[in-house]
Amino acid sequence: MPLKAIEQAVTAIQEADAIIILAGAGIGVDSGLPDFRGKEGFWKAYPMLKNHRMAFSDIANPEAFLKRPTLAWGFYGHRLNLYRNTVPHQGFAILKAIADSKPDGYFVYTSNVDGQFQKAGFDADRIVECHGSIHYLQHLEPDPWEEPIFAGNYQVEVDMETLRTSNKSLPTASNGDLLRPNIMMFNDWHWLDSRTSVQQERYKNWLESIKGKKVVIIEIGAGDAIATIRYQAQVLRRNHAQTLIQINPNPANYADIVIAEGALTALTTIGKALK
Ligand SMILES: NC(=O)c1ccc[n+]([C@@H]2O[C@H](COP(=O)([O-])OP(=O)(O)OC[C@H]3O[C@@H](n4cnc5c(N)ncnc54)[C@H](O)[C@@H]3O)[C@@H](O)[C@H]2O)c1
Repeated sequence: MPLKAIEQAVTAIQEADAIIILAGAGIGVDSGLPDFRGKEGFWKAYPMLKNHRMAFSDIANPEAFLKRPTLAWGFYGHRLNLYRNTVPHQGFAILKAIADSKPDGYFVYTSNVDGQFQKAGFDADRIVECHGSIHYLQHLEPDPWEEPIFAGNYQVEVDMETLRTSNKSLPTASNGDLLRPNIMMFNDWHWLDSRTSVQQERYKNWLESIKGKKVVIIEIGAGDAIATIRYQAQVLRRNHAQTLIQINPNPANYADIVIAEGALTALTTIGKALK
């Protein structure tokens, strides 16, 4: 355990007025969720897609819902069921206690679509899901004024041998139209971004309100293949925060404080030191 980095992180967190939590798929690994590190990492999680030679970008693609709906929904249905059944690890509770203790509050900005922050009790009005959420659905070609549909009433059964769902298990609207997850995919011209836009607006207003305050960013489990969160970390550090803490067993070299550990280990150690 990098004790000096932990000490520095604890001091920065103690002195902060507000916390920004940035999270990628790695934060869920200690809850038992796969991340998608590179093609090999993706195929380790989804060996059936290796048989089809399909990379993440081939299946996370609106065209897949047109051409291979039972496979596309097999992949997303499996993830929907997995995220519904997962209990967020203890690191989320530690992070929430830190965030709740700050006089100017917190915001979570995540590219995860899994809803784990909401499940862990974080305030839904303080979360930006920049790539959308698997817990909402939309038409393949929605009207611009349409709102995403809550997925709570839909059950998607998946055959894990083939990673396919059956035609009767495909989520459809009342008029029979096929629905897809309200997630921004690759080559996606029809993602309904209204939920995320509302979240972004709240986030922007909050960032305005904490100008001049001591702000600490905690970036956890963000990869470099789709570097949205890493990019956000660097922009925020320049414009809105004094300290950037990065928690990642495979860290990059732009953070002020680097804790090269998994999320649960790092957060547990930080949590103990804060007591
Ligand atoms: N749970 C989800 O919602 C989920 C899961 C996979 C992918 N995605 C999507 O795919 C893209 C993936 O990009 P990404 O950067 O989030 O993930 P990624 O899979 O590319 O990278 C994961 C990162 O987490 C780190 N990591 C691994 N184990 C960790 C641990 N125990 N603790 C902390 N960090 C750990 C890895 O070193 C890596 O840097 C995103 O756009 C996202 O929308 C979402």
